[in-house]
Amino acid sequence: MISVAIDGPSGAGKSSMARRLAADLGYTYVDTGAMYRAIGLYARRAGADTKDAGAVGALLPQIKLDIRLEDGAQHILLNGEDVTEAVRAEDIGMAASDVSAHPAVRAFLLDTQRNLAASRDVLMDGRDIGTVVLPDATVKIYLTASADARARRRLAELLEKGKQTDYETVLADIEQRDYQDTHRAVAPLRQAEDAILVDTSDIGIEESFALLKKTILAHI
Ligand code: DC
Repeated sequence: MISVAIDGPSGAGKSSMARRLAADLGYTYVDTGAMYRAIGLYARRAGADTKDAGAVGALLPQIKLDIRLEDGAQHILLNGEDVTEAVRAEDIGMAASDVSAHPAVRAFLLDTQRNLAASRDVLMDGRDIGTVVLPDATVKIYLTASADARARRRLAELLEKGKQTDYETVLADIEQRDYQDTHRAVAPLRQAEDAILVDTSDIGIEESFALLKKTILAHI
């Protein structure tokens, strides 16, 4: 089985690149961030404090996550409800970052993620895929860009969707998530020693895609 691990900070373009690369290469795209987001969404709906490990841990037995793969695209079902779209909300990104720091949450998702890679060729993106989930991945990429570049791209995306926000707010959100994701005790975001660094601060979408595709093909 071939597995491509793509890790990196929020807003580096991991999911859009990963989705396109997987379709192009014929691999199944697995979005692990969506799984953390689904738990964040459940905790928010339950009115729990997402930073409270005990409160979130107590909810886990009530949560059943199913991943449905349709034409190589991932749909995520939370207790039977398709929450693929609902988990994309901005505030759910922060809730996901909060719940992802709790060891019980990470343990809860680990088997699901490994099982998905055991039976098919996957391109999996997240924060700890190359370091923890798939330490023997065929290719590991650490995809990053400066906080400024990521904030500018994210702002353009949000404004295009008609959301009211500004550069400072988006940058502050990105910096806070970077801090939380790199400073947690369990499986913090970091570049695996054998990961290839791809920095897209100064290159556009098409150039990033071509570079990533070339990098993957050179290593499988
Ligand atoms: O990639 P994303 O924005 O959808 O991820 C949401 C949050 O989930 C992110 O802030 C950190 C967490 N996450 C994680 O801890 N480990 C992963 N493999 C994927 C996401």
